[in-house]
Amino acid sequence: MTAEVLQALKPYGGARIADGTIGGAGHAAAILAATSPSGWLYGCDRDGAAVEAAKARLAGFEGRFEIRRGNFADLADWVLAESCDGMLLDLGLSSPQLDFAERGFSFQAEGPLDMRFDRRQMLTARSLVNEASAEELARIFFEFGGERDARRFARAIVKERESRPFETTRQLAELIERLSPRRGKKAHPATRVFQSVRIAVNDEIGSLKRGLDGALKILTRGGRLAVITFHSLEDRVVKDFGRARARDYTFTGGVDVPELREPRAPELKIVTRKAKQPCSAEVAENPRSRSAQLRVFEKL
Ligand SMILES: C[S@@+](CC[C@H](N)C(=O)[O-])C[C@H]1O[C@@H](n2cnc3c(N)ncnc32)[C@H](O)[C@@H]1O
Repeated sequence: MTAEVLQALKPYGGARIADGTIGGAGHAAAILAATSPSGWLYGCDRDGAAVEAAKARLAGFEGRFEIRRGNFADLADWVLAESCDGMLLDLGLSSPQLDFAERGFSFQAEGPLDMRFDRRQMLTARSLVNEASAEELARIFFEFGGERDARRFARAIVKERESRPFETTRQLAELIERLSPRRGKKAHPATRVFQSVRIAVNDEIGSLKRGLDGALKILTRGGRLAVITFHSLEDRVVKDFGRARARDYTFTGGVDVPELREPRAPELKIVTRKAKQPCSAEVAENPRSRSAQLRVFEKL
């Protein structure tokens, strides 16, 4: 969705933009080109391999960017307040993460149960699936995956791991497939379980909430925030953030509602009332983009 991102962020020559999920730097390269000759890019990614790939891809823009390995939730700790004209969050997985079986994100390839964006982190999908209680696993499957069979799957996992701890992606995917045969359904029955374990391992919802708050700090007035989400849970967090921060709480005239007790002026404007989706040509070229949704906000 590079064209839509550029349209949203409106980068001009000399603009300063933060890319919190730099990945392979596809968007970042387009942003740096659009802000030539003197624009600046702050980039970050939790994945060390992505940081290296991004630096290599942006070599032609040397001297115009700073990229650090880390969580975009902490961006406001090292990027100056009110210093950026735009910020991009392109959430979810990159193609290399999904394609390299050893990262353990895909149920379609045999790999270790890992799923960490940042491989320095202690918690892995393997430790979560082997150590969390049945109640905790059921909560994760339901809350982060909307899995209706959450309890049944969680109980079966706890029983299975007593004799054979989970080591690989296939082992987990096959158990779910045994419990919930495909019967012609398009999506693999383990899709929701894998998504929810990944969200839990990486604390994706917590990071997103902190990252959105941080974005408001680092943006200048009139600066744009563009967020691309890939599932409804993420999209709801982004939509709710936008609605809450766009609301006018300056009139509190005796209303006894906790959130209205503190007068607060609107902090942003919602630019996209309805989330934007990729065009059909992009979906045809890159089927993984089919569930992408772009929301754009402007700081007041
Ligand atoms: C869809 S890819 C980004 C692709 C990128 N926009 C490009 O043009 O190549 C998502 C990236 O976000 C990273 N990521 C996910 N959550 C993150 C977080 N909380 N902080 C920093 N990076 C994160 C992932 O490691 C992955 O590299």
